[in-house]
Amino acid sequence: MKRRAQSVLLKMFGTVVVGGWLATAALAQTITAGAATNPMDYKILYATPQDVVQGKQVALTMCASCHGINGISSQKGVPNIAGQRPVYLHLELKMYQAGGRGNTTMTNTVKYMNDDAIMKVSAYYASQDPAEPMAVPAKAAAAKPNALSAGKAAAVACGGCHGEAGVSKMAGTPSLIGMDPKYFVAAISAYKGGQRKHDMMKELVSELTEADINNIALYYALQAPDKAKTPAAGNVAAGKTAAASCSGCHGDGGVSGNPATPSLAGQEAQYFVAAMRAYKDGSRNNSTMKGPATAVDEATAKNLAAYYAGQTPKAPQVGKPLSVAEWAERCDRCHGVNGNSTDPRAPALASQRADYLERVMLAYKKGERKSKEMAVMSESLDDDLIAALGTYYAQKKARGLAYMILPLVPLKK
Ligand code: HEC
Ligand code: HEC
Ligand code: HEC
Ligand code: HEC
Repeated sequence: MKRRAQSVLLKMFGTVVVGGWLATAALAQTITAGAATNPMDYKILYATPQDVVQGKQVALTMCASCHGINGISSQKGVPNIAGQRPVYLHLELKMYQAGGRGNTTMTNTVKYMNDDAIMKVSAYYASQDPAEPMAVPAKAAAAKPNALSAGKAAAVACGGCHGEAGVSKMAGTPSLIGMDPKYFVAAISAYKGGQRKHDMMKELVSELTEADINNIALYYALQAPDKAKTPAAGNVAAGKTAAASCSGCHGDGGVSGNPATPSLAGQEAQYFVAAMRAYKDGSRNNSTMKGPATAVDEATAKNLAAYYAGQTPKAPQVGKPLSVAEWAERCDRCHGVNGNSTDPRAPALASQRADYLERVMLAYKKGERKSKEMAVMSESLDDDLIAALGTYYAQKKARGLAYMILPLVPLKK
């Protein structure tokens, strides 16, 4: 590569790089890794001090009223852009220009800017010292209550009948252990909605919020499964034979692989028989089970119940929820340690305004702001977690970019 001037200003995302030749190699690598990105967007890495000075003029006239001349915003909803990764700034400005971020304020601001001005103003703001970590009010900073412990606390009200940790010791009451959350949640809403007629359960769950139900479901799904502790009267061998017609849906040994179909392994026997009766007489209105339940008589249902009660239950495939810090570890893989990105395309998150972080993550989740990577990352984040992650990164110390004036000739090794 031909060196352009005595003093080439190089920004390498917090890494001090010695010698232009090394920078070129690193750059080539980044561009290859960046696949779909236009190599022209990386031109900004070779911005000169004059470019930065001229960029400041652009910033003064066009950006400072909102972003501040030093790139640190004092307005809610307006992001800090000081010290942000230069390639990212450049890419986002082009994106606004094309209308691709759905923000009319920014689109109107940059609509008529030429590429040169965009490059220079990006270089200028990237060269500024980043904001200090944001002081977030203590209330907002409180960690998200863990779904699992919230579920455990709420399940205390259920344990009297369903057994501690959901293993039934009471004939006629089902075990809730090893139940897939999807089936669990559907069962509760069937009680609430009356498709499953049971006045007592309807009453018991009517006050539960959606979050309560999800948390309780998660709690039971994550306990070590065990068989119900009640006697089962039927003939196990006869039950095993009869179960051949059930295993297609309920799985071998009653361990279901389908979240919407309950596992039967270890289920309480008297409840099992009552459930078969309820499907048959329609008080549990379910078109899938109506046929199989009608096809077996009361004695066979008892045998089936005894067989399944003796089978070993297995935990459903449900992951333990991650804490905010565990989530952040995943984010840091792209956004850098503590949100200090070293990938030119991934923005730094450290010390960004919490309100802005929260808003854009919601925008990714709803698909209003398009990004393949962030759509995947945000789909499983709920609103509380998004707010907590915003707070988490707003409080992290931002690391500025390192600058280096390159010598005219490569350094001797
Ligand atoms: C009228 C106020 C206003 C002006 C003027 C303005 N901006 Fe913005 N800017 C915003 C707001 C609000 C957002 C957040 C928009 C969004 O959510 O997409 C934003 C977002 C950005 C972003 C995206 C930051 C990120 O982390 O993704 C960049 C980069 C940016 N502005 C740069 C500039 C530059 C450079 C100028 C001057 C050429 C400028 N802005 C002028 C209000 C303004
Ligand atoms: C007073 C005893 C009692 C209490 C307390 C109780 N349940 Fe139940 N629960 C039952 C009985 C009995 C059934 C079986 C009802 C039926 O035949 O549909 C049942 C059924 C269920 C089922 C359906 C299980 C399946 O296999 O389809 C779920 C889910 C459930 N209860 C959840 C809960 C939750 C959550 C709580 C606590 C908020 C709770 N129950 C509190 C007695 C109780
Ligand atoms: C075509 C698939 C299918 C077949 C075959 C099938 N089931 Fe089911 N079964 C289901 C589904 C789906 C449910 C959940 C229905 C609901 O939400 O009430 C269910 C529910 C049940 C329940 C209630 C479990 C609980 O926790 O409340 C029992 C008991 C049951 N089945 C037993 C059997 C038996 C015994 C057979 C064989 C004779 C059988 N099923 C055959 C799909 C099937
Ligand atoms: C696979 C890489 C990857 C992972 C993992 C990832 N991100 Fe991103 N993130 C990106 C990229 C690339 C962008 C820029 C997308 C764009 O241009 O809109 C981005 C943008 C963002 C933005 C917008 C910042 C701004 O200044 O506008 C936020 C906020 C964000 N990510 C938060 C997160 C959080 C929180 C996590 C973890 C839950 C996460 N990201 C995980 C790659 C990733």
